[in-house]
Amino acid sequence: MTTQGPKLSWADVTPKAHFLNRRAFMTAAAGVALAGPVAAGSLGAAKSRYSTDAAPNPLKDITGYSNYYEFGYDKTDPERYAGGLTIDPWSVEVGGLVERPGHYDLADIQRGKALEERIYRLRCVEAWAMVVPWVGFELSAFLAQVGVLPGAKYVAFETLVRPEEMPGQRGRGLDWPYREGLRLDEAMHPLTILASGLYDEPLPKGNGAPLRLVVPWKYGFKSIKAIVKMTLTDTQPDNTWRMQQAREYGFYANVNPAVDHPRWSQATERKIGAGLFGNRQPTLLFNGYADQVAGLYAGMDLAKNY
Ligand code: MTE
Repeated sequence: MTTQGPKLSWADVTPKAHFLNRRAFMTAAAGVALAGPVAAGSLGAAKSRYSTDAAPNPLKDITGYSNYYEFGYDKTDPERYAGGLTIDPWSVEVGGLVERPGHYDLADIQRGKALEERIYRLRCVEAWAMVVPWVGFELSAFLAQVGVLPGAKYVAFETLVRPEEMPGQRGRGLDWPYREGLRLDEAMHPLTILASGLYDEPLPKGNGAPLRLVVPWKYGFKSIKAIVKMTLTDTQPDNTWRMQQAREYGFYANVNPAVDHPRWSQATERKIGAGLFGNRQPTLLFNGYADQVAGLYAGMDLAKNY
C-alpha cells in the first residue's frame, strides 16, 4: 500500500464516470431533457481517513468476480442468480451476551449511523485481490446500540438460509447457514464495518445485500454476506470454512504472506482486472493494515493461529 500521492475516491475513478456519462448520454438520446448534472451517487457517504490510496476496481470487477456459495461455485454465479433474493423486509436477530437482544430491522440498525465510504483492499484466501469502495458504518456502533455485556468475548454471525431463493443451498454444498466469527476486539476495531453500499449505491445482492461484514485485514471469507444473526458469546464460535477443512482454513484468517495455505503460496496475489502483464503483486502482512491491527495479535504465533 502506498502512503504517498493523492487520495483517490470513486469519483476520481473513470469506470464509474464512464458509466454515468453513458447513462446521461442514453437519457439525452432518448429525448429526455436532463434537469442538471447526473447525481454522482445516492447514498452520499462521507469520505474516511481509513480509506486506502489504491484505486478501486471498476464496479463490473467487483460484481462479476465474486464468492457467494449460496448462489453457486462460479465467480459469476452471484451476479447471475442473486437478483431474485428478497432483501426487504430484512432483520437481524441479536442475542447472547447483550443488554438488548431482539430482532433489529434494517432501519433500526442504520438509524443514527453516518454512512462512510471505506475504500478497502480485499484479499481472498484463493490469492486474488481487488480494491473495493464500500459504504457502511463501524460494527462497533451497532454493538454499542445492542449493549455488549461484560463476559462477551466473541461475535458470531450467520447468513440467511433460504433455499427457494438461494440455489446453492439446494444441493450438496457447505453446511448452511454460512457462519463466521470475530474476537470482540476485532469486531470493535474501527476498520471493521457493516457494509450496505458499494460505489455510493445500495450494495448489489451478489455482494451481500442488504448487510454484510467487511474485515479488510483478514481473508475475504471472514466478511460474511447477508447477515441475519449475531450472537455475543464467551466461547470461540465456529466458522464455515474451518468447519469444512480445519487444516486449511482457521478462525483468525489474517492475511499473511509468510503463512502459506497447505495447497498454495500466499506470498503473492493476483490483482483482478490488472490484465495479462504485471498482474501479480506481493501479499502484504495483514493486507496492508498492519499499522492499525498488528497490536491485536501481539505475542501470538500467527502460523499456529491461522
Ligand atoms: N458470505 C457468504 N454468506 N457466503 C459466501 O460464500 N464468501 C466469502 C465472503 N463472504 C461468502 C461470504 C468469500 S470466500 C469472499 S472472498 C468474499 O465474501 C467475497 O466478497 P465479494 O464477492 O463481495 O468480493
